[in-house]
Amino acid sequence: MNLTANTILITGGASGIGFALAQQLSNRGNSVIICGRSEAALLKAQAEVPALITRVCDIADTTSRLSMVSWLDTAYPELNIVINNAGVQVRRDLRDCGSLENLEQEVAINFTAPVRLIGELLPQLKRQSQAMIINVSSALAFAPRAGVPVYCATKAAMHSYTLSLRHQLKAIGIRVVEMAPPIVDTGLGGENRIANSSVQTMMTSEDFAAEALAQLESDQDEVLVGLAAGARKMGEALFGRINGA
Ligand SMILES: NC(=O)c1ccc[n+]([C@@H]2O[C@H](COP(=O)([O-])OP(=O)(O)OC[C@H]3O[C@@H](n4cnc5c(N)ncnc54)[C@H](OP(=O)(O)O)[C@@H]3O)[C@@H](O)[C@H]2O)c1
Repeated sequence: MNLTANTILITGGASGIGFALAQQLSNRGNSVIICGRSEAALLKAQAEVPALITRVCDIADTTSRLSMVSWLDTAYPELNIVINNAGVQVRRDLRDCGSLENLEQEVAINFTAPVRLIGELLPQLKRQSQAMIINVSSALAFAPRAGVPVYCATKAAMHSYTLSLRHQLKAIGIRVVEMAPPIVDTGLGGENRIANSSVQTMMTSEDFAAEALAQLESDQDEVLVGLAAGARKMGEALFGRINGA
């Protein structure tokens, strides 16, 4: 699919991987709409890339999400690509029951909200001659890092869901892509994210986005960047290496 002249929604597009994708897709002549919870972060992103269109939206809040869906239908009826990128990562010590705080929120942001958003945007996507849904999973969808167990489970769920979604939407001509990043240098999960990992090499968001868009142009169903390609092949066999076991 041609990566120019599309209208693209990127959830969580104000920072990290989402912003790098937004910037590069905008530079390629696409109309790019970014959403997120923080208005300040959206405005900062727009100050850097003035062509970006912004929308405050908490995808895990039904009212906020449905309001964005209806706004998109009216203001951007030509929307034909959705990138489900918004995500959060919480460290959890499973020996401590208290560490299940905000469990539902992590599951909602990483899995159930994007699943609902896809369903809610489907009528709009169906009207386009070419449409694509991109779900951002993770190398950790294939082999979990034990310190972020719920995060990894939501990413594994997103991997599985994307396989079924692709199978079902093929009949109506909507392309469904899974995009699995390796470790990328963003604010995800806060300061100590890498501390307990045996894998220390991080890509920049810009390098990730450039490689991911190159793979996307070659019509692959799965965009697997860096370590994510090995993780996809090896799966749980990588568990020991990732967790230093
Ligand atoms: N960085 C990595 O190493 C890595 C590796 C594999 C996969 N990934 C995946 O890549 C995606 C992007 O993460 P990132 O690394 O770029 O982290 P990031 O910089 O923290 O970006 C996450 C974005 O999601 C937005 N967001 C969070 N909750 C939201 C909600 N309820 N509604 C709307 N937007 C929300 C955040 O904005 P607000 O807080 O303003 O809402 C933020 O802009 C995530 O799905 C992540 O799991 C990242």
